Amino acid sequence: MTTTAPPAEGVAPAAEPAPRSGRARFHPLTVSSVERLTDDAAAVTFAVPDGLRDEFAFEAGQSLTLRRVIDGVEQRRSYSICAPAGSAPRIGVREIPDGLFSRWLTREVRPGDEVEVQTPTGSFRADPSRGGRHLCVAAGSGITPMLSVAATVLTNPDAAVTLLYGNRTTTSVMFAEELADLKNRYGARFELVHVLSREPRDVDLFSGRLDADRMRRLISLLVPLDDVDDVWLCGPLGLVEDARTVLGELGFPADRVHFELFYVDEPPPELHRDEPEAAGDASAVTVVLDGRTTTSPVARSVPVLDGAQRTRSDLPFACKGGVCGTCRAKVTDGEVEMRRNYALGPDEVAAGFVLTCQALPVTDAVTVDFDA
Ligand code: FES
Repeated sequence: MTTTAPPAEGVAPAAEPAPRSGRARFHPLTVSSVERLTDDAAAVTFAVPDGLRDEFAFEAGQSLTLRRVIDGVEQRRSYSICAPAGSAPRIGVREIPDGLFSRWLTREVRPGDEVEVQTPTGSFRADPSRGGRHLCVAAGSGITPMLSVAATVLTNPDAAVTLLYGNRTTTSVMFAEELADLKNRYGARFELVHVLSREPRDVDLFSGRLDADRMRRLISLLVPLDDVDDVWLCGPLGLVEDARTVLGELGFPADRVHFELFYVDEPPPELHRDEPEAAGDASAVTVVLDGRTTTSPVARSVPVLDGAQRTRSDLPFACKGGVCGTCRAKVTDGEVEMRRNYALGPDEVAAGFVLTCQALPVTDAVTVDFDA
């Protein structure tokens, strides 16, 4: 039996895992402001004490992971930072029905509250020193890292950004005023195209779902793709897959397409093993983290991360949905099978890295090294 991973409630980095050097750490930060963005979304800003400024310095596009204990169980969620590099870390959160974190953050958290926040992670990040032309495509709360990317790269006078932003209606647009401010400040260097699926607009092309067909037409009409240096995508899986397909069809190099997923809501595929009768047996799983080695029995139907966390509560994780890459480790002995993987590239998988939140033990003994 496979267990279904919970969906990632927030926006979680997917393209590559966090850097392994200088492991991210949690610190209590005080909420300095909570701004309501729409009926169901808010931006939460954290005050960083002087002694932690270097640790919380972030690059445009990176994320923060928050943690809290609910009914005795530690829960974590990752949210993209929606502020330009160099400013106080701020996250944008849209409330999800029954969301353990999103309702708390959008409805209950107040300035002065203390929240456990991990130092910034994620390699979905833009370098403002390079300038260049950028195409950003986002839907819904996928705008959060895009706001950071656009506001940061545009500080370079040699940069230009086109943002295609899909929403249902005008009232559901997050950061509408800040995007308008960016447009006022940077003029022709920032082209902003709102696409609304449930609200008619003057231009027919801007009304409807931001699907593959509309993206193809918008990009062909508005974006000189030959001049684009980098493409940044953030939204649900369908939007990211559509955009990557369209960009591939138009001949844009895949290695310059950076993407981030959120809300992966499909259950992981069932695995069909050669020896299904072994699925209920336990495997001796050894984890190595910060130089410390721990071995414990883990049922073969349980992900390595979940099983090993019973004895090693310090193992890194965030989404538990195969999206963020925080739980990445290298298999140095034995074999595991991954149920889903939206975080690791083919090179990393070939080198033996796995997402431990998605890895089921296959052999009698398995060793995974988080320090590798
Ligand atoms: S915890 Fe996010 S991919 Fe495993």
